[in-house]
Amino acid sequence: MNRVVVLGSLNTDIVITTNRLPEIGETIIGENINYMIGGKGANQAVAASRFGGEVTMLGKLGDDTFGQKVLKHLAEENLDLTYLDVEKNMFTGIASIFKLPTDNCITVVPGANELVSEDYIDSVASIIEESQVLLTQLEIPVKSVKKGLILAKEKGVKTILNPAPFVPEVVELIQWVDYITPNETEFMSICGQKFADDSELEQAMVSWSQAHKETQLIVTRGELGTSFVHSGEVVTVKSISVEVVDTTGAGDTFNGILAVELSKGTRLDLAIKRAGIGASLSVQKLGAQTGMPSETEINQRMNQK
Ligand code: RIB
Ligand code: NA
Repeated sequence: MNRVVVLGSLNTDIVITTNRLPEIGETIIGENINYMIGGKGANQAVAASRFGGEVTMLGKLGDDTFGQKVLKHLAEENLDLTYLDVEKNMFTGIASIFKLPTDNCITVVPGANELVSEDYIDSVASIIEESQVLLTQLEIPVKSVKKGLILAKEKGVKTILNPAPFVPEVVELIQWVDYITPNETEFMSICGQKFADDSELEQAMVSWSQAHKETQLIVTRGELGTSFVHSGEVVTVKSISVEVVDTTGAGDTFNGILAVELSKGTRLDLAIKRAGIGASLSVQKLGAQTGMPSETEINQRMNQK
C-alpha cells in the first residue's frame, strides 16, 4: 500500500467576504461569513485523499466544538485519524481570513497546532516509518517538523517540505528534504534575495539546485504554472485557465496530489502536471477545500489536450 503521512496544522477558517479592508480604527460592514475547515496540513491531506491516496493525518486539535467539527469532516474525507491528538483546555487553530474581490489576507492563531511537540513526533514514529511519503509544512513548531523529516529520511521515506509560511530555519531543514515546493515569494526568502524578473528567478533556481543536489526544487508560480529543475535546466509545466473564485488552498491542493503521485513513483513531470491541474481546478470555489477535485476530474482534464 502507498501511504502518505501528512504532518501539519488543522484550522477552522473563518472567512469574511468583504469589498475592502477597514482602515485602522474604522468599522465597515462585510458581506458574508463562512466557517470552513482549513490549515495547510489538513488541506493537503484532504487533497491527497480526494486524489485517491491512503492518507494518515498527524497533528493536534483543541477540545472545543471547532475541533469536533474538524474531526467529523476529516473522517468523512476518508483520512486515517488514529494518531491525531485532542489537547485538553486548548483551542483548535483558527485562521481569520478576509476574502477580498481579488485577494485575501490571513492571520493564523495556532492554538493546539503549537503543541505538536518533538515528543508527539516520537509517539507517531512507527506510522511515519511505514509510509512512502511524509508531507509537511510550517504551521507547527519547526523543531517538530525537523524531527519528523529526520526520522523519515533515516528510514528511506520520501520527504516533501512545503515551506509555508516561510521561516528562516527552512535553510537548515533542506538537508533532510527530498522535494521542496515553495511559491515564488517563498523561494526568494529561501535564497535571501529578490528577483527582478522571471529570468533572474529561473537562474536562481538552477544555481540553487546545483548547490542542493539531493533536493528536488519545485516552484509553484500561480497562473504561469509550475517550474522544476531537470538536468540543470528549468522546465515549466503550464497551468490550465479557469475562472478564479478563491485561491486559498491552491498550493495545498498541489502538494497533496504531488505527494500521492510520488508515493506511487510517478514520473516527476507527470506528477507536477496532475498536481498543477488539481490546483487550478481548486480555485473555482470559495474556501480552501471546497474546490479540491477528485482523481477522475483531474484525469479528465489531463486527457483534454
Ligand atoms: O493554505 C491555506 C491555509 O492557510 C488556510 O486554510 C488557513 O487555515 C491557513 O492555514
Ligand atoms: Na478554493
